[in-house]
Amino acid sequence: MRAVDIIRAKRDGGVLSAEQIEWMVGGIARGDVADYQWSALLMAILLKGMSGAETAALTMAMMRSGSIVDLSMIPGLKVDKHSTGGVGDKTSLILAPIAAAAGIPVPMVSGRGLGHTGGTLDKLESIPGFRTDLDLDGYRRVLAECGLVMIGQTAEIAPADKYLYALRDATSTVESIPLLASSIMSKKLAEGIDGLVLDVKTGNGAFLARLEDSLALAEAMCDIGRTMGKRITALITRMDQPLGRAAGNAVEVIESVECLRGEGPDDLMGLSLELAAEMALLGGKAGTIEEARSLCRSVVESGRALDCFRRLVAAQGGDPSSLDDFTRLPTARRRVDVPSPAGGFVQRLAAWPIGHATMLLGAGRTRMEEGVDHAVGILLHKKEGDRVAAGEPLCTLLVNDETRLEEAIAVVGSAYRIGPGEVAPADVILERLA
Ligand code: URA
Repeated sequence: MRAVDIIRAKRDGGVLSAEQIEWMVGGIARGDVADYQWSALLMAILLKGMSGAETAALTMAMMRSGSIVDLSMIPGLKVDKHSTGGVGDKTSLILAPIAAAAGIPVPMVSGRGLGHTGGTLDKLESIPGFRTDLDLDGYRRVLAECGLVMIGQTAEIAPADKYLYALRDATSTVESIPLLASSIMSKKLAEGIDGLVLDVKTGNGAFLARLEDSLALAEAMCDIGRTMGKRITALITRMDQPLGRAAGNAVEVIESVECLRGEGPDDLMGLSLELAAEMALLGGKAGTIEEARSLCRSVVESGRALDCFRRLVAAQGGDPSSLDDFTRLPTARRRVDVPSPAGGFVQRLAAWPIGHATMLLGAGRTRMEEGVDHAVGILLHKKEGDRVAAGEPLCTLLVNDETRLEEAIAVVGSAYRIGPGEVAPADVILERLA
């Protein structure tokens, strides 16, 4: 086979065979397909698309480029959740202990924050000592011990995706539904899961802002999962305003613990419980979604979910006492309130600028190799539908480095629209695909 023929076929709108796709992906490890050839093929895929069969073949080839973790020694159906990312989205820290306490083994491989979106690994690493860089033996050991494990992508999991993701980033080909779907699913399927719940975000703070694109991505990922014989459910959820009332790293750990104590904000608690219930349903721990919801609520009320999180933190080297004494978590030097310019109701709180401001404060990164400041972030006192008086704080910025503070304050101000009319907060869950 020759790369040039495969590129031409896709350029002209043809359908590639599974063999052609496998040969191209194999070329990454063999070294006989050049970066510029893969770049050209990625652009052709972005412009011409891929059929369901091509997308499944690409996913399988990327998944097989590394190890597929064998978790058969751990009894029960293993179920994970994947979110396409957003602002204040800390549901993984809440639902993984809930699902584990409900008896579902949760093997979770997560990512870091990039741009305006946060990442589970950065949040977990704000817990002193917490290690996300376990090898696959450590991954299996912690899962067996605690019923859940939360690590970062290892070099063994879908290495072809790592290579292709870097090329997509450099060639403006990230926003292709088949490329997004195959990238996400190749890593998830390599984790050793039996089932997967997808949280596909839509709105201004999501990767894909338009509902129809988010639906298309969810459908593509569900098709791949089913082709691979996995149990899969997707929720399309609204990411127009941040989830919960905290955006950053340590502040999101605190809000997650509050949820596990049953004291979290309604939007965050509601979505976390619903995703956990979907996991319990896929994992066979309940016969109906109502039973699954009540099981998940009961493990929060009994404190078992929070105990599960404490055990996970200890097993991965973290300080579990920091979950009871938040002063042990990183704390910013300065707090800066942003007052409301007028009285009325919050009619809009846009997620993207809040995520961007969080990044300007140092809680996020613009490039993967940068570090983050775990202590800084934003506490949102007012969200859509809330009444506010003129001069009352809309939010508080938690600040260490003041270099871009003024810019962050201006960006946060632009996120809020205050008006006289009362508005009802919109539903977070928009669609369910099963
Ligand atoms: N996350 C992934 O894992 N892959 C993508 O392509 C985009 C987000």
